[in-house]
Amino acid sequence: MSKIVYVGMSADLVHPGHLNILREAARHGEVVVGLLTDEAIASYKRVPMMEFEQRREIIESLRWVSRVVPQTTLDYVPNLVELKPDIVVHGDDWRTGVQSKTRQRVIDTLAQWGGELVEVPYTKDISSTALHAALKEVGTTPNLRLKSLRRMLRVKPLIRFLDIHNPLSALIIENTSMDTPQGKREFDGMWGSSLTDSTARGKPDIEAVDMSARISSLSEVLEVTTKPVIFDGDTGGQTEHFVFTVRNLERLGVSAVIIEDKTGLKKNSLLGTDVPQTQDSIENFCHKIREGKHAQATDDFMIIARIESLILGKGVADALERARAYLAAGADGIMIHGRDKSPAEIFEFCRTYNTFENRKTLVAVPSSYNQVTEEELMSNGINIVIYANQLLRSAYPAMLDTARSILEHGRSAECDARMLPIKDILELIPGTK
Ligand code: SPV
Ligand code: MG
Repeated sequence: MSKIVYVGMSADLVHPGHLNILREAARHGEVVVGLLTDEAIASYKRVPMMEFEQRREIIESLRWVSRVVPQTTLDYVPNLVELKPDIVVHGDDWRTGVQSKTRQRVIDTLAQWGGELVEVPYTKDISSTALHAALKEVGTTPNLRLKSLRRMLRVKPLIRFLDIHNPLSALIIENTSMDTPQGKREFDGMWGSSLTDSTARGKPDIEAVDMSARISSLSEVLEVTTKPVIFDGDTGGQTEHFVFTVRNLERLGVSAVIIEDKTGLKKNSLLGTDVPQTQDSIENFCHKIREGKHAQATDDFMIIARIESLILGKGVADALERARAYLAAGADGIMIHGRDKSPAEIFEFCRTYNTFENRKTLVAVPSSYNQVTEEELMSNGINIVIYANQLLRSAYPAMLDTARSILEHGRSAECDARMLPIKDILELIPGTK
C-alpha cells in the first residue's frame, strides 16, 4: 500500500517552489494537500488574493496531488491526527520564525505513530512574499480595493484601521508591519477621518471642508496605496447630496462610508454634550440610509450607520433601538461611538447587539477608552477597530517641538537627532533619487 504524504500549503500565488515540494512529496507516496482556509491564512498573514475554492481548483488539478483537504488552522496537528500520514513534506524555510513552533508540533505529532518529516530545500529567488511585494507595486483597481473590505470581514475576526490625513500618512499604513509571535501584524486599511482631514487643512471639524475637497485629497491617497478605505462621511449632509457622495466614493474604490445620526451644524463627537449637537430622528436617518443604499451601483459598497446616542448621553437603550432601525433600513453595519474613559457602555451595547438576528459588522473607535485591548474588543464582538486620529496627533507635537527648537537655538542642530536623516528622506519615496 502506498504511503500517505501530507503537504500543508496556502498556495495563493502558485510558483515553481510549490511545484518542487509537491513533486518531491509524490516521490514518497500518495499526496494529500492540507490547503489552508482563508481564515487560517489571515490568522497569521494577509488575506489571500484567491479564495479557498479557487486555490483548491488549482491544487487539485496538479498531477502530483491525489486529494485536497481543508486545513482550518495554521497548526497541522488536527489534520495530522485525523489522517495519520506516514510522511509530511515541507520547505526547509520554516525552521526559524513564526512557523518554527508549528514545525516542532508536526515532528512531535508524527512521532506518535512513527511518521517522518521530510524537508525540501527552499527554492531561492522566488517566494510568495516577493511576488506579493511586486503585485503591490503594480497597484490595484478600484473594484478590487472596494471588495477587499468585505473579504477581510469574512475571514478575520477583527480588522484594524488608522487615520489618514495625507498620502504620506497613508503610506505608513500601507507599509508598516510587525513580526509578532502570532505572525505578521499590520493595519488592514485607512480611515478617512473628517477630524484629521479638516485639521490638516487648518479647518474645524464641522463639515466646513466640502466633499469635493475631501474627495480630491482622498484621490491622492488612492493613487499611492492599495489597502481599503473607510471614509468618514460626517452626517452625510442632505440626503439629496448624500446619494452623489455614495456614487463618487464607490467609483473611486472606497469600500465603505460611515455616516453619523446628527443633523444641523455637526461638531466633533469627542466634544459630546459640551457643545450643542442635535441627533437626527430615526425616521430621517433611515431614509438617508435607504436612499444611499439605493444609489450604489455594486453590492460590495457598504454604508455603515454611526450611532451618537452614547456621545449625547441618551443611553444604551436608545442606541439599541436605533441600531435595530438602521439595520432594518439596510445599513451594512453599525458604528457605536462613545467618549467615556471606560468601554462599559459600549460593551453593554455589544451584548444585546450581538444577539440580533440580522446582526451585521460592528465598528468601534476607542479614542477615549484607549486602555481597551484589541483582544477585549474582539471578545465583545467588535469587527472593525478604528484608530481615528493617532497619526496626526503624533505628527503635530513632533513638528511643534522642531519649530520651537529652531527658534530657541537659532539653528537646527539640536533637533537633528529627532528627525529623519537627510539620506533617509531622499530614499523614503522610491524614484526620488
Ligand atoms: C473622525 O475621526 O473624524 C471621527 C471620529 O469622526 S471622532 O473624532 O471621534 O468623532
Ligand atoms: Mg469625523
